[in-house]
Amino acid sequence: MDIVVSGIRPTGLLHLGNYFGALRNFIKMQNENRCYFFIADYHSLTTHPKAEHLHQNIRNVLIDYLAAGLDPEKAAIYVQSDVPQVCELSLLLSMQVYVGELQRVSSFKEKVRRQPDNVNAGLLNYPVLMAADILLHRADKVPVGKDQEQHLELTRDFAQRFNHIHGTDYFKLPVAYNFGSELVKIPGLDGTTKMSKSDNENSCIFLSDAPEVIRKKVMKAVSDAGPTEPNQPKPQAIENLFTLMKAVSAPETLQFFEEQYNQCQIRYGDMKKQLAADITAYIAPIYERILELRSDDDYLRKVLQRGAEQARESATQTIQDVRELIGIKPL
Ligand code: TRP
Repeated sequence: MDIVVSGIRPTGLLHLGNYFGALRNFIKMQNENRCYFFIADYHSLTTHPKAEHLHQNIRNVLIDYLAAGLDPEKAAIYVQSDVPQVCELSLLLSMQVYVGELQRVSSFKEKVRRQPDNVNAGLLNYPVLMAADILLHRADKVPVGKDQEQHLELTRDFAQRFNHIHGTDYFKLPVAYNFGSELVKIPGLDGTTKMSKSDNENSCIFLSDAPEVIRKKVMKAVSDAGPTEPNQPKPQAIENLFTLMKAVSAPETLQFFEEQYNQCQIRYGDMKKQLAADITAYIAPIYERILELRSDDDYLRKVLQRGAEQARESATQTIQDVRELIGIKPL
């Protein structure tokens, strides 16, 4: 059984794009692997969130993941800072990492460009902490998107370096868990190709949106006056409505509107009404579970406590082994 580790950024409410991207695959992975899923609160400190926001976001992310089907009976679900052993591993690894190689990381260079006033050391050290997250459980696989591939490559470099320096094969070299065709890219309601909270909150359908909110957002989605000739290619915004429909509606529904489009008879008002109803139905079980979990702090605390215990058990072993390999041991 493979060990899988993944960090979840506590960015707040999850939307349909998140669900059809990583989240749905996490839920599959937990059945076949030993999974450690944690909320990366230490990492998020690089952007200096307000304490109250950070706290709320951790809670919201946890609730959304659990509601969507992440199962504490199957996976260890924890908050990164509940397992501070990761800090020690990060420190120990950092002694074998060169400042130059961290300065060359694309995500770091990007941050330097985008936030020149806040180039903190945590940002530079980000890939080391991430490597520590992964190596802490001696992971085989890490589900990462394109933007995280370089970080995973560095994790392998650091692991290999550690092994080389200490003449061991202790750390496995973790590889990307590839979802391939199972990643469905969900477009925004604003005509853009990607549903993204940082680009435009109003273009997102959150898993916790009430039916009425979904209806309003979908009715306002960008469309146009409709095709003037049969069988024309669709403009991006229209293509987006069909992509969303493909994700949540019955095949016959999709086919019906495809035909209407091709015959220039489409009425986007009708299509949007249907789409809103189908999105609502699709996320209804998740939405209802979110509402339940929001008033069940006892349960949430139990989940995190248990997850942290499981993660600490694996982490404690790693730290003990690593210390010993480095030469930190009782006299
Ligand atoms: N850097 C990841 C992101 O931005 C989050 C993360 C932190 C992570 N530690 C991790 C992902 C370890 C996978 C494994 O999405």
